[in-house]
Amino acid sequence: MATWQREYLLEHAVETGLGDGDGLRHLLALGGWKSVTSVELDARRAAAVLEHVGEVCTILVGDSTQHVGELASSLGGPALWWLDAHYDGGGLPLAAEVRAIMQARDVRGDAFILDDCRIYGQPCASGPLPAGYERGDAQAFLDVEAALRRVLRVSYDRRDEGYLVALPGGRRTA
Ligand SMILES: C[S@@+](CC[C@H](N)C(=O)[O-])C[C@H]1O[C@@H](n2cnc3c(N)ncnc32)[C@H](O)[C@@H]1O
Repeated sequence: MATWQREYLLEHAVETGLGDGDGLRHLLALGGWKSVTSVELDARRAAAVLEHVGEVCTILVGDSTQHVGELASSLGGPALWWLDAHYDGGGLPLAAEVRAIMQARDVRGDAFILDDCRIYGQPCASGPLPAGYERGDAQAFLDVEAALRRVLRVSYDRRDEGYLVALPGGRRTA
């Protein structure tokens, strides 16, 4: 992630699905961002994490699909979008998130990490989902992948639950 931040001059980091804050802490530890924002549906989780990370970032409470469009149009420079919101009452907002971001902004300078791709099956499937996990809409995922592929370089990392990574076409210079 540090390499992408440097190579593509990423200025803003947005995470959807704060959870217990591990991803947010990782982003904050990297440093160098003009802004770091996380969106979490569960207000109690958001409050618990905010207590530990302090005021150096913004945690928005609510449905990510309602927030990312506005973030996408208001953030000026290139952004990292780490999309990790799912379940716990929020369903599977990934496709709607990507659509909202791409409608609001030219993403050719941005980077995306779509986390836990295994939920959506192929091309990231590697075994059954853990008990209680609902399978996502594979076609909606492939539509998202195709939309990203039209403007960014898409690859997969099969570690953990699988990541789709979409990066700009070339290194940027300041
Ligand atoms: C897998 S956890 C996130 C883990 C976290 N990113 C990390 O790296 O530790 C998923 C989180 O997404 C949240 N969530 C689910 N649907 C959401 C939605 N539509 N908008 C915002 N957050 C959502 C859940 O409440 C849960 O906290």
